[in-house]
Amino acid sequence: MDYRVAVDHVSKTYRLGKVGVAALDDVSFTVATGEFVAIAGPSGSGKTTLLNLIGCLDTPTAGEVLIDGESVSALSSGGRADLRARKLGFVFQTFNLIPVLTAWENVEYPLLIRPRGGDRRARVSAALEQVGLGDRARHRPPELSGGQQQRVAIARALVGEPALVLADEPTANLDSATGRDIVELMRRLNRERDVTFVFSTHDPRIMSAADRVLEISDGRLR
Ligand SMILES: Nc1ncnc2c1ncn2[C@@H]1O[C@H](COP(=O)(O)OP(=O)(O)OP(=O)(O)O)[C@@H](O)[C@H]1O
Ligand SMILES: [Mg+2]
Repeated sequence: MDYRVAVDHVSKTYRLGKVGVAALDDVSFTVATGEFVAIAGPSGSGKTTLLNLIGCLDTPTAGEVLIDGESVSALSSGGRADLRARKLGFVFQTFNLIPVLTAWENVEYPLLIRPRGGDRRARVSAALEQVGLGDRARHRPPELSGGQQQRVAIARALVGEPALVLADEPTANLDSATGRDIVELMRRLNRERDVTFVFSTHDPRIMSAADRVLEISDGRLR
């Protein structure tokens, strides 16, 4: 069994005062190492909640999430932070770059928090080259197009050599041609570098690039 991710009977209920919002209801699936998997579903169906649980940013109300066989809920918050830093990369819908830093500095940032072996400068340059932005290293985010900003964010996600990249609607703020380019880039990195990807999307054309589409509605897998 070579699963990168196992989601095992996971439920998540958010408490708002006396009211409980059931965001996920008994969700189970696995993602094999090297897969490129889409999570699709309407707004409010639970996609972000699910990616946050897989990304160790939150813990389930019931059930468990395993990353490489390791139960996330069994870890302390420090242990989860460590697992995130060792194994995971994140890409967000709104890119989430630091506007005052250059593309190069944005990509370098995770390595300052959590140093890796090897030459930091070489790693950052290689990550920017991989996303086709070697010539934009000195640009700040406002001096880049949306697609280029998302490429910087993908380079930042990859610079720590994660086993798993989680991307929450990575193409939602891009025009459809640029969105397709970004998914093709993710797909190429998935194949060439054997990085497992789990990403959410509303867009059927983006879904069609996936090995497998997990459809979610009202917090349940269909
Ligand atoms: N922090 C929170 N507190 C309370 N309820 C929340 C919280 N986060 C999400 N929810 C609720 O949980 C449900 C699932 O939300 P989630 O953000 O996971 O949906 P989504 O599929 O990502 O939607 P979208 O496509 O709009 O991003 C929604 O009903 C939402 O209102
Ligand atoms: Mg969402």
